[in-house]
Amino acid sequence: MTLSETGLRVLAAAVLVLLYAAMCAAIWWRERRQRMRARQEAAALTSAREGALPLLVAYASQTGQAEELARETARLLHTAGESVHLCALDAVDADLLARTQRALFIASTYGEGDPPDNAALFLAHAMADARPLSHLQYGLLALGDRQYAQFCGFGRALDSWLRAGGARPWFERIEMDNGAPQALTAWQHQLTQISSLGDMPAWEQPVFSEWTLAARRHMNPGSAGEPVFHIELQPPATEAALWESGDLAQVCIPADPQHPREYSIASIAQDGCVHLLVRQARREDGSPGLASGWLTQGAPLGAAITLRLRAHRNFRLEDNLQRPLVLIGNGTGLAGLRSHLRARAAAGLGPNWLLFGERQRAHDGYCEAEVSGWLAAGKLQCADFIYSRDQARRRYVQDALREAAEPLRGWIADGAVLYVCGSADGMAAGVDAALADILGATAVEDLIVEGRYRRDVY
Ligand SMILES: Cc1cc2nc3c(=O)[nH]c(=O)nc-3n(C[C@H](O)[C@H](O)[C@H](O)COP(=O)(O)OP(=O)(O)OC[C@H]3O[C@@H](n4cnc5c(N)ncnc54)[C@H](O)[C@@H]3O)c2cc1C
Ligand SMILES: Cc1cc2nc3c(=O)[nH]c(=O)nc-3n(C[C@H](O)[C@H](O)[C@H](O)COP(=O)(O)O)c2cc1C
Repeated sequence: MTLSETGLRVLAAAVLVLLYAAMCAAIWWRERRQRMRARQEAAALTSAREGALPLLVAYASQTGQAEELARETARLLHTAGESVHLCALDAVDADLLARTQRALFIASTYGEGDPPDNAALFLAHAMADARPLSHLQYGLLALGDRQYAQFCGFGRALDSWLRAGGARPWFERIEMDNGAPQALTAWQHQLTQISSLGDMPAWEQPVFSEWTLAARRHMNPGSAGEPVFHIELQPPATEAALWESGDLAQVCIPADPQHPREYSIASIAQDGCVHLLVRQARREDGSPGLASGWLTQGAPLGAAITLRLRAHRNFRLEDNLQRPLVLIGNGTGLAGLRSHLRARAAAGLGPNWLLFGERQRAHDGYCEAEVSGWLAAGKLQCADFIYSRDQARRRYVQDALREAAEPLRGWIADGAVLYVCGSADGMAAGVDAALADILGATAVEDLIVEGRYRRDVY
């Protein structure tokens, strides 16, 4: 017996409806799990001592290191019996500060001495408030890197503001230069002092494992820029490698195991491998950068690469999974955007708009084939490639954004979220200025508050 044409159509429609229902159920289940996890974390931290005012642990963090230390700090204090309230600095307002008697701040610095994105509103609002803080005792760990002129600029500004308001430090500000372990030891020591609850349980150390360098492809032969490589790393057989689009891989290299380097992951867990896009850095003396040189040239195929996956909550899709997505980036910034596009394509979600900048199409058009495929398959609705050197006058992503002001306003009105990935100075600062001009500074602030403007810039 053969099915009639109508029967086949009905069957196909039924299969489609079933597939759609299964996808909705998977999304609902995943969001429910995320909400439950957040509730459990909050409840676990606040219930320790009934009636006690919780100790505030607030973090200002761009790529998650300060956040990771804050989470570990909160976990340890909670295990030691403290009631803890853990949150990003932007979630702390003048009223919460007025109610708080004890606080720990863990703050990194970005840009040129600026706060990370999740502390920008705290700087603009809470720190503009001159209410007295004499009821507050606090400790502060500032993260930074001495290679920047404004070492720990934001941590220092926060400390000065707290002191000026009359808040009383438990101890002198601790400054951590590029992850230096001595600063962490000093911080742990201070935690045992302020919690006055005996010995602290052991601090959980980040766990690295050995991945295999499985593939490496030179993406931009003949480029006027430094070479970019697509790299594939296979997880250890014993490890269930799980990450979300937007996360980071931290790589330890033999020449400098004390200072791991961050790379944006360009693939999703379903790919089975971590993909990276690595540009060979060139040092002042002409030698290749230590980590990028090792990954792109020094390590032979099959070599063991010491790596750990790092949650990058500021750049994950999370609640934005089902909103329209505007992805903006340049160069190796494609990595973070590609992981989101792959996640959206796998879930069949849209609409998506990519604005991507490189130098010359002839040599740096490494993402065009994949992007054309997504366009043809309806996984991507708009793609703008901006090649700065393909015309007499230099033209960048931020210029294209200004030219697309009208459609951008429309996407934002429809609830779109912005994800920016790539160079901090050359691109992200220009994009930020263009957004302020197109949408207005207040609208950009609102997008930050709503978690609709996310950045992975370096
Ligand atoms: C969030 C984030 C995401 C990133 N994503 C990508 C990406 O997707 N692709 C990409 O190509 N790059 C990415 N980078 C840049 C990357 O992490 C490296 O900085 C880059 O590859 C250059 O590193 P290198 O070791 O090759 O260069 P090097 O010049 O050897 O080192 C770069 C930096 O490492 C530190 N350093 C080097 N040597 C020492 C030392 N002896 N002691 C102390 N510190 C030292 C310094 O801060 C130095 O500026 C990202 C950076 C960040 C922060
Ligand atoms: C683009 C960029 C700009 C930075 N600017 C500064 C700076 O001005 N001063 C400083 O001390 N550290 C600076 N840093 C270093 C960070 O503060 C440091 O890496 C910190 O550990 C990051 O913590 P996070 O992951 O919590 O954001 C910068 C890092 C990057 C990638």
